Amino acid sequence: MSTIIEIQGLTKQYGELTALNDLYLTLEEGAVFGFIGPNGAGKTTTMRILTTLLKPTSGKAWVAGHSVTDDPRAVRRAIGYMPDFFGVYDDMKVWEYLDFFGACYDIPPNIRAGMIDDLLALVDLGHKKDAYVEGLSRGMKQRLCLARTLTHDPQILILDEPASGLDPRARIEMRELLRELKNMGKTIFFSSHILSEVADICTSIGIIEAGRLIAHGDMAEMKRQLRTHRLIQLRALGDTLPLQAFLLSRPEVHNVTLGSDADLPPGTLRVDFSGDDNALGQLLADIVTQKLPLVGFFEETGDLEDVFLHVTQGIIN
Ligand SMILES: Nc1ncnc2c1ncn2[C@@H]1O[C@H](COP(=O)(O)OP(=O)(O)OP(=O)(O)O)[C@@H](O)[C@H]1O
Ligand SMILES: [Mg+2]
Repeated sequence: MSTIIEIQGLTKQYGELTALNDLYLTLEEGAVFGFIGPNGAGKTTTMRILTTLLKPTSGKAWVAGHSVTDDPRAVRRAIGYMPDFFGVYDDMKVWEYLDFFGACYDIPPNIRAGMIDDLLALVDLGHKKDAYVEGLSRGMKQRLCLARTLTHDPQILILDEPASGLDPRARIEMRELLRELKNMGKTIFFSSHILSEVADICTSIGIIEAGRLIAHGDMAEMKRQLRTHRLIQLRALGDTLPLQAFLLSRPEVHNVTLGSDADLPPGTLRVDFSGDDNALGQLLADIVTQKLPLVGFFEETGDLEDVFLHVTQGIIN
């Protein structure tokens, strides 16, 4: 595995406003990195610096080994960029649009025809080849825009909210498309503020808030580290009071909610637990040793939204 994107101390000021504040990030080749953050966090700013469209106030970044400030042309050859805004293309047909971008990348005309068909097949727009770009639906435009970023077969894709504004079905299609591109060996750096959707395709994520990267790392590892409050569900046989009393006597247990006063079936308890897997295993073993009748014991899998809310608590200014 080799590093393909390296960001060191990247800072961007817009006058008084610090849009990006001392960002450090490293991505390995083949990664699918989800760049997560609310509106105004600095996602687009970061991506525009990586794509050489914007100069940082300070700090450095390398893409495919090339400095974004010292060798922007080499960076541009290595990347495909999908901006957050599609643009306006009057009187241009779908195939002409791709042909135009192919020409911009000096792809010879005899190769372009086949390439256009391949790209349209990949994004499932073959049937729209002769349609006008302006007449496409939003989802189709997004897919066409993605096809455009692939015209020069770049190693790295930088996609600014590729799924924004799409309906649920189109979002799933976009996600499948990203998965396909990942399988083709591309490194993908994309932004989103919808966490639950990126969770299963990302290999790593970074959470940015008010210009600062507040958490980043391997997907699974992030979830583990961030979840200091794990929610464990238990189901007891008969009277739950002895079990409840036992649980509350444990230092790792912060709170116990009973089935009758929460959204839980009767006989079920929800425990707010802080501790690693060893501590959790010990808790179960001790319940059994105490002969407290237990028929269910499992951890509620928190989704990424919870992780995010937890991490960003108090940071939003
Ligand atoms: N050209 C500009 N001039 C002044 N301020 C800017 C400019 N571009 C962005 N900003 C500010 O920088 C901050 C970061 O903006 P940015 O577009 O990077 O956020 P974002 O994370 O992409 O947000 P969104 O989810 O809304 O796309 C915001 O406060 C924004 O107002
Ligand atoms: Mg943006």
